[in-house]
Amino acid sequence: MVSSWTGVVLALLVFMVWRRTRRQSLNDIRGPVVPSRLFGHEKMARYSEEVGDLELQWGRAFGPTFRTQGCYGEEKLWTADPKALQHVFHTSGYRYPKGTLVTEVGKLFSGEGILSAAGDDHRRQRKIMNPAFSTGQLRAFLPVFRRSAARLSEKWKEELQITLPFGGRAINISPMLGRMALDVVGEAAFDDQFGALDGNENELARAFDSLFADSFLHPPPWDILFKATWRYLPPSVLGLIKYLPTKEYKRFRSYLRVAFRRGKELIEQKSSGAEKGSKDIMSILVQSNLSEDAETRLSEVEMLSQIATLLIAAHDSIANTLAWLLYELARHPEDQQKIRDEIIATRARIEARHSDDFTPADLDAMIFTNAVIKESLRLHPVAPVLVREAGYDDILPLAVPIQTKSGKATTEIPIASGTQITASVWTYNRLESVWGGDAAVWNPARFLDHKERTNVGVFANLMTFSAGIRGCIGWRFALLELQVVLTELIETFDFRIPKDVEIVGLNAGIMMPIVKGKLKEGVQVPLHLSVLR
Ligand code: HEM
Repeated sequence: MVSSWTGVVLALLVFMVWRRTRRQSLNDIRGPVVPSRLFGHEKMARYSEEVGDLELQWGRAFGPTFRTQGCYGEEKLWTADPKALQHVFHTSGYRYPKGTLVTEVGKLFSGEGILSAAGDDHRRQRKIMNPAFSTGQLRAFLPVFRRSAARLSEKWKEELQITLPFGGRAINISPMLGRMALDVVGEAAFDDQFGALDGNENELARAFDSLFADSFLHPPPWDILFKATWRYLPPSVLGLIKYLPTKEYKRFRSYLRVAFRRGKELIEQKSSGAEKGSKDIMSILVQSNLSEDAETRLSEVEMLSQIATLLIAAHDSIANTLAWLLYELARHPEDQQKIRDEIIATRARIEARHSDDFTPADLDAMIFTNAVIKESLRLHPVAPVLVREAGYDDILPLAVPIQTKSGKATTEIPIASGTQITASVWTYNRLESVWGGDAAVWNPARFLDHKERTNVGVFANLMTFSAGIRGCIGWRFALLELQVVLTELIETFDFRIPKDVEIVGLNAGIMMPIVKGKLKEGVQVPLHLSVLR
């Protein structure tokens, strides 16, 4: 036993020495003191108390770009610089892939779908999926968003009346927002009525519940070290990782099993022709899979994987974004009233033209409401960091010069092939050089001034939906859903912040809102609601 441990430690030492002698290109770049030779900054980053803690501290000391260290002495570049992000995510196309770790983790919960596909496979999958997210197609989802938003209002009204018929009270808004997002994706993506808001038990929803918190939040140290070795493992070994018998890996396995089983039933229904003319995302994919052209086809596993992917991509992202949005409006009642006034004025115009309800054009024309949505997406990005890996030796251009260890100011960093780039969405969205001196605080009016900013990201110069060829395919879907749900909720309820409640973000792969100091109580956003109509 002792000798096998000695063997493991020796192998580790040899590996770390080999790493140090490998070509490192970031030697002259400054960065924070390394707290552990074995873990580098990895463990402290995964255990930070709040998203943004470390970023803020490091950014103040070194600016938007600096060097950090991964496990076993691996050097990494950390950046929030707009020009660097533009280069990595936009200009370079597939030359900065996600890398082995991100891809393999993606496969654990989304199979062989678009989120984990690389290069030509990704290009093909994206081409096939794009039509399902076109502007025209999104109009078909409008009634789905409206129905679920109205149902959510009813459920909250019921919840409020149970305890207090007059006035309001504080409720945790997170669970019902999650159920609403689930009902929406069930219907829009698969034409499946989950009935989550009505309390229906759903196997898929159960398998999915708290998946990220259970599997990514505060991983055990062995898992951090283990994951750091993945990039050196051959594909045959990587393919076995999903069978590991520990809690983290079992949860993913059971989620994928349930998603694939349900997916098979859905695809059979849709392929039988019984649902011709259906506008849900899967029906569109099934139709395009009838094509003879291999370029417009998905394999069965890829098709099933899109089901697991869409459920994950469109659920917590929407629920958490709405929770942050309502939290900010509860903290800023004057802005809440301003958007309520804008909504009421728009409704009056809609009624005057004898229309039924808000069209996408009506929603887009609500300038201040949209500024509020953008400001909340800016301050609370669901994915606070995105990781990429240089696929070739490169020079990374910077907009904000950095001071190197040797005292030079530079706007170009040599990058060796294989170097990992950690893109901080959270910090980019708060850069004073992009957003102005008040970048750290809430100010939706910044989106009203039409000032020229950088041109990063798929929406509003934000990195929240990422950027370039792998930017969020569902951003228009998400925006329309946010607009519709926010409109319904702000017309129906007044939101206030209960005394002494502060919400902070925790990084569990995605940013989860929790009450500061109450991590054990899990995701929650308690707000005081009273009914207005
Ligand atoms: C506020 C809501 C949302 C946010 C903030 C968001 C954010 C993101 C981000 C940051 C990525 C890039 C991930 C990476 O590079 O690793 C992404 C990708 C993706 N998102 Fe979203 N998303 C949202 C909603 C949605 C919705 C509603 C859908 C589908 C209906 C969706 C589908 C996808 C898919 C399929 C990808 C993978 C795209 C690709 O790799 O080509 N997302 N999203």
